[in-house]
Amino acid sequence: MNNKAIGLFDSGVGGLTVLKALLQELPRENYIYLGDTARLPYGTKSKETIIRYALQCTEKLMENDLKMLVVACNTVSSVALPSITEKYPHIQIVGVVEPGAEAACQSTKNNHIAVLGTESTIKGKAYDKAILAINPKAVITGKPCPLFVGMAEEGILKGHLAEEMAKHYLKDILKQEHIPDTIVLGCTHFPLLKEAIQNVVGKDIHLVDSAQTTAKKVHAMLISSNALSDRAEGTIHFLTTDDIAKFRAVGEPFLGFSLNSSHVELVDL
Ligand code: DGL
Repeated sequence: MNNKAIGLFDSGVGGLTVLKALLQELPRENYIYLGDTARLPYGTKSKETIIRYALQCTEKLMENDLKMLVVACNTVSSVALPSITEKYPHIQIVGVVEPGAEAACQSTKNNHIAVLGTESTIKGKAYDKAILAINPKAVITGKPCPLFVGMAEEGILKGHLAEEMAKHYLKDILKQEHIPDTIVLGCTHFPLLKEAIQNVVGKDIHLVDSAQTTAKKVHAMLISSNALSDRAEGTIHFLTTDDIAKFRAVGEPFLGFSLNSSHVELVDL
């Protein structure tokens, strides 16, 4: 059990921010990461399509002997987590929404929280539900920021263009009578734009990135199920549904190291 792999999937390369946090928290684990780059983005698709894609990704990963599944995509975690857990009740499954909601509730002092995400994540209101379950007094403002996804993939992370886009998306939130003191970066791509967003909102607003808290939750769950790896070093295997060279190139800034020497396999779902 202990040396079985942890499977992760995302609509593309965004979930590599979650893998990066996991590698820092749990470097001795074996990981299998699936990025469904052929069908990205999920965040603009209907609930039914997201569920269908998510179940196909899960099925692909389940071909391996896994000890845990991490849904490293906010859109899938918001919309399809119940469908995945219902179909695969025998395996521990962790999404990114609950850990993000917990971190937001720990951070807020004025109970005003904003959530930035894809259209489907905001529409699904999973963050609202998870935050209110912890802090019923919380007032939540959701804001879809779909263009941030393309910008992160294009490498437009800082400077004038990134800050203008952040101003565009955040202007209504920053004009509210009660300005949130905490903003959840509720999309795997948004941590890459953190500096630009922080420059626009100012240093008094705390930006929450659920990747770190998700990694801590995975760690705690592995401890409580006595399933931590006892290997000296872990391995990573990457699967993608589209061009391998593009996966390597676009994925690098998300993961923080070059994927050139990593094994990336092309798969069909
Ligand atoms: N990975 C997605 C998320 O975290 C963003 C990209 C997409 O829309 O598929 O919501």
